[in-house]
Amino acid sequence: MACHLLAANRTLGRFSRLIFSTATAAIFAISLCGCKSETTKSDASGGGAGGEIVLGHYASMTGGEATFGRSTDNGIRLAIDEINAAGGINGKQVRIITYDDKGEKAEAGTAVTRLVTKDNVIAVLGEVASGLSLVAAPICQEYGVPMVSPSSTNPEVTEKGDMIFRVCFIDPFQAYACAKFAREHEGLKAKKAAVLFDQTSPYAVGLKDEFSKSFKRQGGEVIASEAYQKGDPDFSAQLTSIRASEPDVVFIPGYYTDVGNIAIQARRLGIKVPLLGGDGWDSEKLGEIAGDSINGCFYSNHYAPEGPDPHVQEFLKKYKARYSGTPDCLAGLGYDSAKIVCDAIGKASSSKGADVAAQLSKVKDFEGVTGKISIDANRNAVKPAVILEMKNGKPTYVTTIQPE
Ligand code: PHE
Repeated sequence: MACHLLAANRTLGRFSRLIFSTATAAIFAISLCGCKSETTKSDASGGGAGGEIVLGHYASMTGGEATFGRSTDNGIRLAIDEINAAGGINGKQVRIITYDDKGEKAEAGTAVTRLVTKDNVIAVLGEVASGLSLVAAPICQEYGVPMVSPSSTNPEVTEKGDMIFRVCFIDPFQAYACAKFAREHEGLKAKKAAVLFDQTSPYAVGLKDEFSKSFKRQGGEVIASEAYQKGDPDFSAQLTSIRASEPDVVFIPGYYTDVGNIAIQARRLGIKVPLLGGDGWDSEKLGEIAGDSINGCFYSNHYAPEGPDPHVQEFLKKYKARYSGTPDCLAGLGYDSAKIVCDAIGKASSSKGADVAAQLSKVKDFEGVTGKISIDANRNAVKPAVILEMKNGKPTYVTTIQPE
């Protein structure tokens, strides 16, 4: 009897799995229609046998982090169109397939599996969010397909294996930059910090831990630590405790939608001190959501769209000619990552994952929009961070912090 029940249970398990995967496939197909991606053909020519080179991109094209995916995709497509206009890679045109993962883990896994098993892409670009890169990296590693994250900063992402790279700095450094700025910036000189973080996000948890360590090491004190979950509508309990602790600064290592809502509620509750955050704040939506509440607040980032750097100025001109608005750092990192991947494919002795990865490990002093990029032994880039201040709803350059 027990045996029968177990067998019946197993069948049911399989059945519900089947329904689940059919449903996932259906949702997936719908999500593909939702964004303007070239996804209908899976002609399996990524390996270079045909006349083109196929790359994959998985990204949050919709959802609470939609600007992350859209900006990155804009940057990638700008780079690829330039490469194609200049003759492609060794005479072959490059095609990019983008799948919308909606900022969700299960969708990211499905998207990347499809890119590497059905579309046979040579390399994968993505994700922005570390939590999603951490899901996809083991899949790319297992199939031997190089993955380059433009912007995931959690250290563990590239620890998933020798096929996994990034073109940005990592969070221990970003945390150091934020802590140093909080301690030293004239008009801030913070001694006491409170932290408020998304406990469901590996990025936020990691950055919070590193910030706390670094802030203490630099002589500060962390006097309150409060958690929330992505998408929470009400932060008043956490903010009330934070207010009672009387901090000089509140560090919020979250993504822009939550941060915008937190800023509004913090000001309503009478918290007047500056809020400070990491790159997850970087979105044109932050100022739109938070309005005045975010002005006078600071965050660390990968580039500033101001300043005289000719690479940045040229990129701005090209970006603005094609899209609307000022490119955020994700557009720049997307652009740089696509150029680096195409460069590596061009130099590789074959289109095999291991050969492309061998070239990616050799990237040195690549002059990117987001700075000079060299890939180190851990497949990370070491670059300075910039600190931006929100002024009239727009990020404005304050200073640059060099690697330790
Ligand atoms: N660094 C963030 C993460 O790892 C992603 C991010 C990068 C978001 C740059 C905005 C800008 O999750």
